[in-house]
Amino acid sequence: MKLTPRTKWLGHEIFFFKSTNSTNTQAKEWLKKNPHFEKGIVFIADEQTEGRGRYKRTWFSPPETNLYLSILLKEETIPQNLPQITFPISLAVYETCQKEIDGVGLKWPNDVLIHNKKVAGILLEREKNGLVVGIGLNVNQKEFPKDLKTLATSLSLQTKKDLNRENVLHTLLEKTEQWYDYYLKNGFQPIKELWLGKSLIKGKKARIQSGEIVTLIDLYEDGSLIYEEKNKTRGRLFSGDEICYLS
Ligand code: BTN
Repeated sequence: MKLTPRTKWLGHEIFFFKSTNSTNTQAKEWLKKNPHFEKGIVFIADEQTEGRGRYKRTWFSPPETNLYLSILLKEETIPQNLPQITFPISLAVYETCQKEIDGVGLKWPNDVLIHNKKVAGILLEREKNGLVVGIGLNVNQKEFPKDLKTLATSLSLQTKKDLNRENVLHTLLEKTEQWYDYYLKNGFQPIKELWLGKSLIKGKKARIQSGEIVTLIDLYEDGSLIYEEKNKTRGRLFSGDEICYLS
């Protein structure tokens, strides 16, 4: 892959792997040995043998098909607000997909969907004084394992054409830089409003772990999801595993 991103700070140093266990793991290992680093270093692989998703799930990462990358950022916000960072990144992935096709949506906490099937995921991890933002974006994948078939999709399945992965990557890096800079300058509030608009989460019904049907209301400062019960008491959800959407 030849890369010349039109960015100010993101992706000027790129470590490329033909095959590796996980770009997030590689980025974290690198951070352990390089505590003084410039933000924006990127780790990209053509294939991951131990690609990781959230909640210790596996991220299916076949060779030369999709994008698997990890971006190094610095801690530029207070620790309890670190989960906020995935929201500007989600907006960048959203716009990258939207450039190719309509029907893109966002699902809390940080899934990107096309016509309700997951096309991309984000995994934020902390290591020493650095942050690793892992992004998996299904670009040209045509087949998914049985258990993912009804849940996952790719840009290629949706657009019915093969895409140039380098072009998609350039767009993704440019948009990630734009949205992350915007977040640093303007804070979480405007990002949150934009994200809520695209996720259409406000007013949605969902079942939470207690079995109760609740109405989704808003995002809290730490990225958690605020819901309201029938009796108007409010609560917060911290993990996508705690919720089942109903509408
Ligand atoms: C999710 O569960 O939705 C998050 C998936 C994140 C996958 C990406 S692929 C690049 C990076 N390396 C990994 O092992 N995981 C992330």
